[in-house]
Amino acid sequence: MSAIVYDLGSDQILTLTIDMPGQSANTMNNVFRSALTDTVNRVRGDLDNIKGIIIASAKKTFFAGGDLNELHTVTREQAQAFEDMVNGLKADMRALETCGKPVVAALNGTALGGGLELALACHYRIALDDDRTQLGLPEVTLGLLPGGGGTQRLPRMIGLEAAFPFLMEGKKITPKTALKAGIVDELASSATDMMAKARAFIDANPACRQPWDQKGFKLPGGAPHHPAMAQKLAIAPAMLKQKTKGCYPAPERILAAAVEGTQVDFDNGSLIETRYFAELVTGQVAKNMTGTFWFQLNAIKAGGSRPGGVDKETFRKVGVLGAGMMGAGIAYSTASRGVHVVLKDVSMENAEKGKHYSEQLLAKKVSRGRMTEAQRDEILGRITPTASAEDLSGCDLIIEAVFEDSELKASVTREAEPRMAANGIFASNTSTIPITQLAEASAKPDHFIGLHFFSPVDKMQLVEIIVGEKTSDETLARAFDYVQQIGKIPIVVNDSRGFFTSRVFGTFVNEGISMLAEGIHPASIENAGVLAGMPVGPLAISDEVSLTLMQHIRAQSKKDTEAMGGAWTPHPAEAVIDAMVNTHNRKGKAAGAGFYEYPDKGKKYLWPELESRFVDQTRARNVQLQDLKDRILFIQAIETIRCLEEGVLRTVEDANIGSIFGIGYAPWTGGAIQFVNQYGVRAFAERARELAQQYGERFTPPSLLMQKAERNETFA
Ligand code: NAI
Repeated sequence: MSAIVYDLGSDQILTLTIDMPGQSANTMNNVFRSALTDTVNRVRGDLDNIKGIIIASAKKTFFAGGDLNELHTVTREQAQAFEDMVNGLKADMRALETCGKPVVAALNGTALGGGLELALACHYRIALDDDRTQLGLPEVTLGLLPGGGGTQRLPRMIGLEAAFPFLMEGKKITPKTALKAGIVDELASSATDMMAKARAFIDANPACRQPWDQKGFKLPGGAPHHPAMAQKLAIAPAMLKQKTKGCYPAPERILAAAVEGTQVDFDNGSLIETRYFAELVTGQVAKNMTGTFWFQLNAIKAGGSRPGGVDKETFRKVGVLGAGMMGAGIAYSTASRGVHVVLKDVSMENAEKGKHYSEQLLAKKVSRGRMTEAQRDEILGRITPTASAEDLSGCDLIIEAVFEDSELKASVTREAEPRMAANGIFASNTSTIPITQLAEASAKPDHFIGLHFFSPVDKMQLVEIIVGEKTSDETLARAFDYVQQIGKIPIVVNDSRGFFTSRVFGTFVNEGISMLAEGIHPASIENAGVLAGMPVGPLAISDEVSLTLMQHIRAQSKKDTEAMGGAWTPHPAEAVIDAMVNTHNRKGKAAGAGFYEYPDKGKKYLWPELESRFVDQTRARNVQLQDLKDRILFIQAIETIRCLEEGVLRTVEDANIGSIFGIGYAPWTGGAIQFVNQYGVRAFAERARELAQQYGERFTPPSLLMQKAERNETFA
């Protein structure tokens, strides 16, 4: 069976239905390309009998886009062959576009990347009006560019400036929004309506040419050389650099392809696009990003570290203890996915306040047209605020999110656990207390687990599942199911102080603070953090966490280490933290003063006295930016390797995904372990040794790294 079903009707309308055999969605791979070439040849032969063409899909979605399995494996040596292949595919699309007959895309569902580009090559796009449908060019989010004509056709359709959010940010929109943006031409209420509208367009437009193939075509919104546009484009690279920190080549190449391409004719523009596309596809950043955000993320979604042999569970009733910041967020995320939530706090007033948080988030959605009032009411109807533990009866899962206090956590566990369903599981959202220790309060420690959410819960996709010493595989499997049921990404870690994410995150902030201890200027430290790809600098984030909390966590770790007979090695950051809190009374953002000043009006700024109190002018002048960036990325990668070595982490997928989604490790690296792989394991170990000599033993390569380096292996 061909991937493109060719149906020339008696009315001379040719329907090309894409139906890739053995695939749930259509993708632009070898099979599609050869079917398209055959189709184009057949169309050429039949052209006199064809009045118009409708491109449709037999799948639930229209077209999923490029085939990442294929793109991921193209090497630099194959770049030229890849370019030729892409140009061949685009020539076929172009042949349909310039055949003289009207070509209509019938978008029955989501069309992303290459799928939307195929639709853009048509003269008219009709989309089924369905808010679940997504239209967009998300290639940039994987370090790629829309190489199927997207960077050329979209600016020619809606103008350069309007096209940028789609091309450079990968923005996805619904058909309604696409209609407003001029990306689709008409909406249809049903499949029949869509086909009728397609036929009507063909009847009314017997000869069709794209605007850009017509004489005197002017780029909407102004050509690149028009003074107003030229001015905008002149600053665009600087603005992009600010956003990408120079770490992501894709947005810059997209800008170049679109701007250069719109200054030449379409066909030459298309060749320019392909050249940039091949450069990105064969480059390291795209390999890192597709490897992690596509293959590794999909591996987690397909089951990841979930133990096998346990039936998949659907949760119906979840109890949440504590309606504070985290509990309210967990209740919102759970109820939004169809699960009933009993939200318990010490008073009805507190519990209702927690529910109000959902009301506020949902009100925003309704006002932005993303949700109907009925949908909002349905979600809110699923959240029952209460002050009574009795209401927890029959919960399949109870998540405890009360204050970070072992005694309190033990007492709420004892109170709530007996009310759970017979086979229910109990989870703690603690951010620091070992799960094995908390499980001591449980009558069923095999049913006890950690579910570490991140703040704000509605936005943060990661949940770190923590397995205690007595947690059963069945409990782990079911906790994994719950996390997936509420649409979040589960990684699984074994119990350890700080688990995985907080532990690695701690190395990042401590490294930044120890730079200050060495006399490096705080502005250089913050800049290095951001240029290394972290969302914010280490000093700013320390203020958010609060310096007193950091002192508290350190004191606890020291106590535990010494109780187990170990010796505590002080970190160079400790003296700075102590001076800030004990001498200068600067405890962080919540206290109104930390490494930054927080004026009532206006933006925060670095505390000016940091300079006189900590900066050593000679050291500050001689510092190398690369050294600072390396320290920030290396210290986290080394701690991640230690977590793998100690069995805290079970898989490289969990390490990479957890580091990006939980800590904000530079996404262009593909995660902390992929950073080591792409740096070269031997070279990484070598550089780590250098850093250890210069800055301290914390950079000493762990033995797992040394083993890999000796065997010249990567982390697989
Ligand atoms: P919070 O202070 O905002 O809320 C705690 C809530 O627990 C309060 O509403 C309080 O009234 C309630 N509570 C106290 N005793 C209770 C009892 N006996 N029964 C029911 N409710 C009771 O605290 P937050 O920030 O929501 O933290 C909760 C837990 O989540 C802590 O263990 C914390 O370490 C952890 N966590 C916090 C994160 C954060 O970013 N804030 C991130 C990840 C975990």
